[in-house]
Amino acid sequence: MSHFPKAFIFDLDGVITDTAEFHYLAWKKLAKELGLSIDRQFNEQLKGISRMESLEKILALDPSLSAMSNEEKERLATEKNEYYLTLIDQLQPDAILPGIEQLLKKCVEQKVKIALGSASKNAQTIVEKLGLIEYFDYIVDAGKVEKGKPDPETFTTAADYLGVPYSDCIGLEDAVAGVEAVNSAQMFSVGVGSFEHLHHADYVVEDTSELIFEDIIKQYQKQREAGKSTTT
Ligand code: BG6
Ligand code: MG
Repeated sequence: MSHFPKAFIFDLDGVITDTAEFHYLAWKKLAKELGLSIDRQFNEQLKGISRMESLEKILALDPSLSAMSNEEKERLATEKNEYYLTLIDQLQPDAILPGIEQLLKKCVEQKVKIALGSASKNAQTIVEKLGLIEYFDYIVDAGKVEKGKPDPETFTTAADYLGVPYSDCIGLEDAVAGVEAVNSAQMFSVGVGSFEHLHHADYVVEDTSELIFEDIIKQYQKQREAGKSTTT
């Protein structure tokens, strides 16, 4: 019988909902206040990493900011988050990206467990605003891990809680750091976005409308079968 996965672990920002765009807009505004300019290309490296790590990457653009105190950094990170919170204030179920709820329903129907693996401290709030909380067997957010993405801890913590072997998990990610985290957890990685950025994922789709349960399973089984034939 073909190998069937036991859990799907979803990233939140940029996979379930387009909050990745709001993070970008909030960082862009903060950067501007610091006299810096960031674009979407630069933003790719901010996806999936923590709030403070993102700030550090922005500050590194200007060597004269390297002496900034920790208090000042905390203040800037809080300012960014406050702006971000105003952007997501009106978030509702209509902001769920195409195909996501169907995929969640399919997982439930097929008795595949569902977890969230997010680097965001706002993860729980967002999932609640979207009306999706009932789908999740477990939520891993920034508060539950010591090492953020690209470390695998976010994904392994979810699998450990669910009692599922890592090789039976599928991780869905829009970030380079996130795909790296899934891969180093020895899970099957699905990248959502441009192939240019996410080519190291096991399977890449351009957008969430292409996240079809049966297609993902087919790709997962193909990879697992190929893995078996090279090791036996
Ligand atoms: C990740 C986003 O999900 O969460 C990052 O991809 C973001 O862009 C990180 O910086 C932290 O989010 P928050 O909500 O804790 O500032
Ligand atoms: Mg993301």
